[in-house]
Amino acid sequence: MKTAIVTGASKGVGYATVKLLSENGYKVIAASRDLSKVSNLVSDNVEVYSLDITNSSEIKKFYEKYKDITLDLLVNNAGGGAGLFSAIIGGWANGDVGSQPVTKEVLP
Ligand SMILES: NC(=O)c1ccc[n+]([C@@H]2O[C@H](COP(=O)([O-])OP(=O)(O)OC[C@H]3O[C@@H](n4cnc5c(N)ncnc54)[C@H](OP(=O)(O)O)[C@@H]3O)[C@@H](O)[C@H]2O)c1
Repeated sequence: MKTAIVTGASKGVGYATVKLLSENGYKVIAASRDLSKVSNLVSDNVEVYSLDITNSSEIKKFYEKYKDITLDLLVNNAGGGAGLFSAIIGGWANGDVGSQPVTKEVLP
């Protein structure tokens, strides 16, 4: 089973992505700063984690918990949409808060 992390999973694109991936055979780690908003997503292949992507200590704890998984897909959705795109472009060397550090911590 492939494994995905989705940030900003409480609503909108993130929420829909968690549903889509889980319905298509992914194990999904759905991160949200408010677990009460994602509790209804929990299933055999969806687990939820409390994560504010502007909090670097939370990001580090998140990474410590999941560092040994084989990550197939990171949907770095929270934080204005810049995280995933700028990470791919290579702009993720700057700063230590926000969605880019999620990428930096999670990618090998
Ligand atoms: N909707 C579109 O048509 C569209 C088109 C192109 C690009 N995008 C991009 O796709 C992304 C999602 O869009 P959307 O329309 O689904 O937005 P949205 O409905 O406002 O959802 C944003 C998500 O990000 C979470 N979030 C915000 N700040 C956070 C933080 N500091 N830590 C953790 N989670 C945080 C929100 O959680 P809370 O519930 O806790 O606030 C929510 O789950 C955005 O970055 C947007 O720029 C959207």
